Amino acid sequence: MISLTATLTRLVGDAFAAEGLARELGLVQISDRPDLAPFQCNGALVAGKVAKINPRALAEKIAARLSADPTVSKVEIAGPGFLNLDVADEILARGLGDLARDARLGAPDTGAGKTVVIDFGGPNVAKPMHVGHLRSSIIGDCLQRLYRANGWTVVSDVHLGDWGLQMGQMISEVELEGRAPIYFDPNIAGPYPDEAPVTMEELEMLYPRASAACKADPARLEAARRATADLQAGRTGYRALWRHFVKVSEEGLSREFASLGVTFDLWKGESSVDALIPPMIEDLKARGLARESEGALVVEVAREDDKKPLPPLILVKSEGGVLYGTTDLATIVERVRAQNPALILYVVDHRQHGHFEQVFRAAQLAGFAGQAELEHVGYGTMNGPDGRPFKTRAGGVMKLHDLIAMATAEAEKRLVEQGIGADYSVAERTEIARKVGIATIKFADLSHQRTTDYIFDLERFSTFEGKTGPYLQYAAVRIQSILRKAGNPVHGINTILHSSEERALALQLLALTDVLAVAEDKRAPHMLCDYAFELAQRFNRFYTAHHILSESDEGLKAARLSLCGLVLAVLTKVLDLLGIEVPARM
Ligand code: ARG
Repeated sequence: MISLTATLTRLVGDAFAAEGLARELGLVQISDRPDLAPFQCNGALVAGKVAKINPRALAEKIAARLSADPTVSKVEIAGPGFLNLDVADEILARGLGDLARDARLGAPDTGAGKTVVIDFGGPNVAKPMHVGHLRSSIIGDCLQRLYRANGWTVVSDVHLGDWGLQMGQMISEVELEGRAPIYFDPNIAGPYPDEAPVTMEELEMLYPRASAACKADPARLEAARRATADLQAGRTGYRALWRHFVKVSEEGLSREFASLGVTFDLWKGESSVDALIPPMIEDLKARGLARESEGALVVEVAREDDKKPLPPLILVKSEGGVLYGTTDLATIVERVRAQNPALILYVVDHRQHGHFEQVFRAAQLAGFAGQAELEHVGYGTMNGPDGRPFKTRAGGVMKLHDLIAMATAEAEKRLVEQGIGADYSVAERTEIARKVGIATIKFADLSHQRTTDYIFDLERFSTFEGKTGPYLQYAAVRIQSILRKAGNPVHGINTILHSSEERALALQLLALTDVLAVAEDKRAPHMLCDYAFELAQRFNRFYTAHHILSESDEGLKAARLSLCGLVLAVLTKVLDLLGIEVPARM
């Protein structure tokens, strides 16, 4: 469907063209001063600079042309030549009808015919998911939902950390503990037991033990390095043991992701490109792109104009193991072959910026990326009240399920405080608390600008007032209940606007297309949060000012109910893009 800004951009573009100027000058955007007018165009100022025209005089000519058009209800010139615009009520009413009938409910088709690979989640085998992976999961999931809604073919990949030194550390730890000798016996070449020698709980304890041992003892570290290289070289016992580690972890992780409502198209990992690495390295060597440096094989990625020195990307270490950068580079080769994407997004902590810079540059040098644009979508840390990365009370890493349990318990407490659900079954109350708990976490995370750090303040993020997930769920539930009481009428065919509150609501509803496009373009979930919150607030103003169910004029009542229906549909959709579910009642 065509957005109001697109309609206006065409009109204003025509007006500039009629003045003999470029139609691109007619770009209309949602105003950043909605108190003055809902739309603005800065083209006259731009023309003034480029063509040395008096901007105010030009703006007056454009305004004169626009005021003759029935679509435009208001055109004003502000300051040196800004054009402030509004559209006629009939245009708004028609727009609402179009929105209600649109099968895509206002989503732009920005991704038509294009594929995006989104690499997010990124947990590591044998380690519990921590808050860093939580942010990646929540932001990445929101982006995959948004891109899908906007018509992209999305391929999401969890990209497990399953191939690095940690694997060798655990293998040599298991060997030393003597708990599964069969995997280490050089006289045995399999078959190996189907049963895993470790549980998830044991793995989670094994890894910290192994890692501490390697920190304390250089000989242990050396053994772990060798085990990693042997694993990667294909030693059968190590591979068999490692497969158990991966499988056990995957089971635990998929449960965790399920509890967050996050899914992936692909459960690949760093190890998935194992077979592509030797030919890739040969190719890089043959083309003179990789060279030996102190026993290692590296790709030089620094550029003359770099402000900070960028170290080379190490492909192979002196003892033969490959690294995180090697697998990431080979994964680009794989993704380009398998998906031929227009875009690959890596939703990973911004502290890994240097790593991605190295990998992307190496991919460009080697021409691996094809048509794909590569982008690191970084994010800041979620901190505890002390301003340091979020920890448990005991000071340990905050695991995902601890955090969910905490937020759910808080949600339960709040529901009781609000007197919500006192007469519902325990099962329903539990289900509501779960949805509210998840909404608390997700909205808190997504509403902050992705790149900034933020403090996770459960108290604040779980209230039913203010800009929170629970507030928006509650707003949606309230509209559901109004519509239920009215017998769930079919909404939005012919909405007539009767008041300033309805008009404000209509403008916000019709801004959806633009917001979805900009949020995609900027990879900015917080824009969806801002939008949903503003929509709920405008709805509240409308609801407070007007009768709906008790309205005696049937025509008016029907129009208002249809507006309610449309608000609910849009709010539910945007919450869904945020990964937030709306309970049937609260
Ligand atoms: N496993 C990594 C970590 O825990 C994140 C992986 C991100 N994805 C990637 N392709 N490098 O830091």
